[in-house]
Amino acid sequence: MADEEPDRLLEKLSPTQKIRLLTGGTTWRTRAEPAVGLAEVVTSDGPAGVRGEAWDERVTSVLLPSASALAATWDEQLVQEVGRLLADEARRKGVHVVLAPHLNLHRSPLAGRHFECFSEDPWLVGRIGAALIRGLQSEGVAAAAKHFVANDSETGRLTVDVRVDERTLREVYFAPFEAAVEAGVWAVMASYNRVNGATMTASSLLTHPLKDEWGFDGVVVSDWGALRTAVDTAHAGLDLAMPGPGGPWDDLLADAVADGRVPRAAIDDKVRRLLVLAQRVGALAGTADPARRTQASPGRARALLHRAAAAGAVLLENDGVLPLKEGELGTIAVIGAHAVEPRVQGGGSAGVFPERTVSPLEGLRARLPERTRVVHAAGPDLGAPPEPLGPRDCTDPLTGVPGLRLRMLAADGAELYSELRFSGRLLEPDLVEGADTVEISAVLTPEAGGEWTFALAGFGRMSLSVDGRVVIDGSFARETDDPAVVHVNPPAATACHELAEGTPVLVVARRRLDPDTGRATVLTAAPPPPHPGAALAEAVDLARDADTAVVVVGTTDGSESEGHDRTCLALPGHQDDLVRAVAAVNSRTVVVVNAGGPVELPWRDEVAAVLLGWLPGQEAGHALAGLLLGDTEPGGRLPTTWAEYLEDAPVTATEPVDGVLAYEEGLHVGHRAWLYAGREPAYWFGHGLGYTTWAYESVAVPEVAEDEGEFTVRVQVRNTGRRHGREVVQVYLSRPGSAVERPVRWLAGYAAVHAAPGATVDAAVTVSARALRHWCAERGAWVVEPGRFTVHAGRSVGDLPLSAVIEARGQGS
Ligand code: BGC
Repeated sequence: MADEEPDRLLEKLSPTQKIRLLTGGTTWRTRAEPAVGLAEVVTSDGPAGVRGEAWDERVTSVLLPSASALAATWDEQLVQEVGRLLADEARRKGVHVVLAPHLNLHRSPLAGRHFECFSEDPWLVGRIGAALIRGLQSEGVAAAAKHFVANDSETGRLTVDVRVDERTLREVYFAPFEAAVEAGVWAVMASYNRVNGATMTASSLLTHPLKDEWGFDGVVVSDWGALRTAVDTAHAGLDLAMPGPGGPWDDLLADAVADGRVPRAAIDDKVRRLLVLAQRVGALAGTADPARRTQASPGRARALLHRAAAAGAVLLENDGVLPLKEGELGTIAVIGAHAVEPRVQGGGSAGVFPERTVSPLEGLRARLPERTRVVHAAGPDLGAPPEPLGPRDCTDPLTGVPGLRLRMLAADGAELYSELRFSGRLLEPDLVEGADTVEISAVLTPEAGGEWTFALAGFGRMSLSVDGRVVIDGSFARETDDPAVVHVNPPAATACHELAEGTPVLVVARRRLDPDTGRATVLTAAPPPPHPGAALAEAVDLARDADTAVVVVGTTDGSESEGHDRTCLALPGHQDDLVRAVAAVNSRTVVVVNAGGPVELPWRDEVAAVLLGWLPGQEAGHALAGLLLGDTEPGGRLPTTWAEYLEDAPVTATEPVDGVLAYEEGLHVGHRAWLYAGREPAYWFGHGLGYTTWAYESVAVPEVAEDEGEFTVRVQVRNTGRRHGREVVQVYLSRPGSAVERPVRWLAGYAAVHAAPGATVDAAVTVSARALRHWCAERGAWVVEPGRFTVHAGRSVGDLPLSAVIEARGQGS
């Protein structure tokens, strides 16, 4: 279709028809306009997978490793392939726009959505984000880079006013979005928060620099529910209000256009952008189907997810115990609750129902020969929020098959709808018009006797009965508008009830569907926790008698989730005690960390190896088994600096003061903050061991860097170990004696090389001339300070054995 087609179509639409298109028609769809052959454009959350329009456990998705794990691969080609897999999923589910990637920064280790963001380093976020965008969009599925901008933590995210200076915005928080625009992203999501006083959906930043200076030609979509006013947002660069129907634009925009408060040209620009997006994703009649290749088979998808999980895993410590030698393993003790129930994704809007989950225990059992004994103990309870009831614990009261019964009831109690479900988490209560109450019921057969804890999460009038006895009954008021809390993760009311082992009880939960009470009803039940001392002793006994102990520790849904920030970095429950107790009886203790963001590892010097597996996605166990046994080298390097203890971290604040969150650290974010403060973390940005070792032999740079284009840094490294390996050679810049404030040093490029034992290889690291520039707020321009920059090369920002000098001319911007 010709480029002028959207303009031609625009002329066919009346002002009313145009304005209608600017607000969503449903939670996930835009509106269609048959007069111009425009179909509904379907959006779906990412980045962990493509859930599609339904939040229904029967509709499964492939589940990727967390964004933090993808960034840890430092492998843009792999991330691009992952993007293509997301596009496959999108097409399978009829989705045109995937609400990903998440380009906010790891500013504070406490940020609730840390797992969903790539890195603390703006340049790395931009590179990895651009790769994902290219992968998605090469298959005709739009990416929506989110959340523009400075939405780096959760506390008060709907209203917080982030105060950040212009240079910091340019060099740190804008940078990944600018890279996304350079990569040709088709949509950008405007965040909930304010920046320097202006709410982002009404901010002039959407026009300048996003649209005019950077040349973004796609659609700016609001974060869900972020549009709160009609006129200022219409003047700003916002193009599409989601979700719909209803909201300020639906209700007020027509009048504002009619009386001239909003110019018609502004509406035309928005609709034109929407038509261009529809054209790009194949939602406009006459547009060629953007599908360009056949979808990956489930086998290929799993293989890619396995590869990505292994490539992102970071080996933090290893005294030589890894890789494990299969022949020497008579018994392996696999310890920890996460060994059987790994955390494969974080909490919040990005959640999907994975098509499968391979646990560490399953993965190891599948990988090891039959003669190896694989034994397991969970250890003490984690104190995690219990999982929703499911077919594992319950049967349907109506048919007796594993599962739960969902019924929708009229006000007089008459049944309007009934179906078998497989999860006590219901997020789609609009199954029938006019329903008054949702009911979830199940027959629970307790695996253990004692005091069970029941929980019912949701808002409004709720009740829960167990075995005919009412244990919860009340009205639960909604105290927030945050959709991640209201519709996905509402707080729970809890009650305890004594059950006898093996004696079935009927559990009936009801919630009245009053207006503004959200979509979620979640029914959970947890058995009495095992005695911590006994559970610890059982794990220690197994570990003592094993050749190797693998302890899988990690966070819980309660500790890493959208909608709230964390309050500490300690592993929940008694996990630190568990690691220490196991390590005390087995010198070959390997700890696997199952977390999306930093956690404290106070025992890291007491164990033989620490492998950070992140939130590894559905292939968790297979990837882990391959890594532990050396089929694959842990390929990851930290995309974020990890503190020994939270108190050491230079930037942690997520709590607004009087509604304001001041980014006082300015440019000094992430590793730059650590360097600026002169503090030593547990693990630097870029750190990660492999199964071989490397010597950094020499570095060569051109004498002079031109103002435009790029230059190449050549770093010679030698594989000094006994295995073939991959090394991520990193290049940083610094500017001794600079006349302007700067980071102590900053990442400028990297290249991954592979080499056989003993072999020497040249890493050619491309550095963009942009890396030499800084933003000059007075001139409103990027400038190069003439003079000598130091080029550092090495394996992390804290381990840079080589350096050279390059002269910048600095004649222009
Ligand atoms: C989140 C977005 C998400 C949207 C739709 C919002 O609350 O901040 O990341 O895409 O909901 O689920």
